[in-house]
Amino acid sequence: MPLRRSAQRAASRLLPACLAGCLLACSGGSGTAPAGTSGLGDRLFPAAGNGGYDVTHYGLDLSYDPGSGRLAGTAVITATATQDLSGFDLDLAGLTVARVGVDGRAARATRSGTELTVRPARTLRRGARFETTVAYAGVPRLLTDPDGSHEGWFRTDDGALALGEPVGSMAWFPGNDHPSDKAAFDVTMSVPTGLSVVSNGEPAGTRTAAGRTSFHWRSTAPMATYLATVGIGHYTVTRSRTPGGIALYTAVDPRSDDRQTAAALSRLPEILDWEAGLFGPFPFGSAGAVVDHLPSGQVGYALETQNRPVFPGDGSGPAVAVPTLVHELSHQWFGDSVTPSSWQDMWLNEGFATYATWLWQDHDGGVPVSRSAATAFADPGTWAFPPAAPPTAADVSAPPVYNRGALVLHELHRALGDTAFATLLRGWPAAHLHGNASTAEFTAYCAGLTTRDLKPLFATWLYGTAKPARL
Ligand code: TRP
Ligand code: ZN
Repeated sequence: MPLRRSAQRAASRLLPACLAGCLLACSGGSGTAPAGTSGLGDRLFPAAGNGGYDVTHYGLDLSYDPGSGRLAGTAVITATATQDLSGFDLDLAGLTVARVGVDGRAARATRSGTELTVRPARTLRRGARFETTVAYAGVPRLLTDPDGSHEGWFRTDDGALALGEPVGSMAWFPGNDHPSDKAAFDVTMSVPTGLSVVSNGEPAGTRTAAGRTSFHWRSTAPMATYLATVGIGHYTVTRSRTPGGIALYTAVDPRSDDRQTAAALSRLPEILDWEAGLFGPFPFGSAGAVVDHLPSGQVGYALETQNRPVFPGDGSGPAVAVPTLVHELSHQWFGDSVTPSSWQDMWLNEGFATYATWLWQDHDGGVPVSRSAATAFADPGTWAFPPAAPPTAADVSAPPVYNRGALVLHELHRALGDTAFATLLRGWPAAHLHGNASTAEFTAYCAGLTTRDLKPLFATWLYGTAKPARL
């Protein structure tokens, strides 16, 4: 099972941190179990996520008031302890925590920065499944990334929009905010009747009472926290199916429904079926898109939120363009189903998604892949650093991750030939379906597709700092 595989990987990666935690606890002389670490030691985002447990399910039962911007409710987090635990952390930015319970008993909770530290009444034993309930409220924050872009909770004129890459989910719910810990989600959001709520997964019912309507969205496939979204506001909803049979649920804010956006969205079924032909069956129960309207310059990027990507429009141009649609939909295989083990593996997301648009432009626009590759090769921004080694957290979404990542795939196509490369495009997402994968696992997978030695290719294109002499 993919969930078990990822849990094992998380556990083995955590070993040194666990030992350190144990030494600390033992030096305290209490002889009690250690606490989980306050971060997973990600090279680029060391404080993201937490050690000592693996979340299997988030149950978010929330209510939002667009007038005041206040969010309130409870998060029920079901997890398995990966070590004996006297305590553990959750990631949470801002908001006020009223109450924390573990397995039905009140737990002590303290806050420091974006860490919520929980001390359950009883030590949790390794392997135990436990349920943490956090009651919280407040006006969620808009966060600024290390690269200066915004994420977290955006207020809109008719509601709100949550976007969480890389560490923005903690702005609206407490959790293990690192891509290595994927979990199923149930999100229930209550809003004033008349507004709608759209999220990941599939709609699982609405209830109206006393002037409020609550919308339940369910994601049964495991999802990384950074891919969770919720949109609150006025949307025109379209439900349909692609010719290939993929269920679609698309929500468009009428204020971002310009003609080019409508024209781009009309191609969504065709794009998805074309991608499924190249990358394998669509990995989730449904697809679609969320198009929202935000003030100019607020977001500045589309995001591959799981199974239903988000496209913010600000009126300065079309909210959705075909290449961006192709890019975000390809992430459903590359990033959402197969999720990077750590943030430095981001090129596995953006390299594939960039390459997918090159393939699309070859297929649809008559621009050969070789010409897109040559353009990327000629761009000085492409060569700032090797794609598998972004130097800092501010570089995870920088051009080398996209362009050089795609050039790695272009070179692999040439080295492997058409047949083995087609196997790579389908086989890689299948090998890690609904799981996590690292760059080392990717290079090992590629090595298994050929008798050629790929080490020089990876040394030059993936890890090399210098620009190669030629494409
Ligand atoms: N990952 C998104 C995409 O490529 C883009 C993105 C998300 C982004 N957050 C960002 C780009 C911050 C720049 C800065 O589809
Ligand atoms: Zn992308």
